[in-house]
Amino acid sequence: MKKKVNNIRFLPFCSRFVLTLSHNNQSTITNMKKQLNKIIAGVSVALALYGCANQTTSFDEIVANRRSVRSYDKTQKVSEEQVRTLIATTQEAPSWANVQATRYYVVMSEEKLNEVLPSMLANQEKASTAPVLIVTTYKQNQSGFFNGEAANEAGNLWGAYDAGLSNAFLVLKAKEMGFDTLIMGLRDADGLKKALGIPSDETVMTVVALGYGNQVPKRPDRKPLDEIMKIK
Ligand SMILES: Cc1cc2nc3c(=O)[nH]c(=O)nc-3n(C[C@H](O)[C@H](O)[C@H](O)COP(=O)(O)O)c2cc1C
Repeated sequence: MKKKVNNIRFLPFCSRFVLTLSHNNQSTITNMKKQLNKIIAGVSVALALYGCANQTTSFDEIVANRRSVRSYDKTQKVSEEQVRTLIATTQEAPSWANVQATRYYVVMSEEKLNEVLPSMLANQEKASTAPVLIVTTYKQNQSGFFNGEAANEAGNLWGAYDAGLSNAFLVLKAKEMGFDTLIMGLRDADGLKKALGIPSDETVMTVVALGYGNQVPKRPDRKPLDEIMKIK
């Protein structure tokens, strides 16, 4: 319930305030100004802190800053919760008839990391620095298929297509979360299947290194836009 202002008590307070001002009490005014300045400074700091905490990175910034990073600081760990957030984001990627045929095998225990390393072939040295290696596969005969029949000539290439789209979401979300990544296509699929118990009806695509990079690679040149795009 709202309290009723007691006019009789309030009036003497107001008159004292007016009197103070009208007597041009310089020190009181100076004190009030100081207090006001302090309040303004405090509010400004609070607003600035709030702004920093809520700062978001734009999509263009994420795209511009993502690079394939080939060396990581293994002492900076990635948590299981962070991995779950990352993979959950890939689930938002589009897929053929929403079949969601892409699968991820996240290797983050020291023991398994060592076990899969020989399967990384020419990428072994790079992969050895990453605290997390994410193997991407897709379930065959789902993406690009209707009732078990390939819908067109591309067949299981659609599974690979969906996995690539999913990986795109992965590397961009990882960058937004402050991580770096390296997609690796050079790997021994059979070795990975054996080490991770990947079912035979899945095709192994990439291994993505995830972690905090300790290098900032230069952006490799891109082809001129008009070489890769034709407007008809
Ligand atoms: C499907 C695919 C396979 C790749 N395989 C490897 C690989 O085996 N080893 C490697 O060092 N980089 C690999 N890369 C990274 C590319 O070399 C890299 O994306 C390209 O040079 C462009 O550089 P950027 O990613 O920094 O923009 C691969 C990338 C993709 C998309």
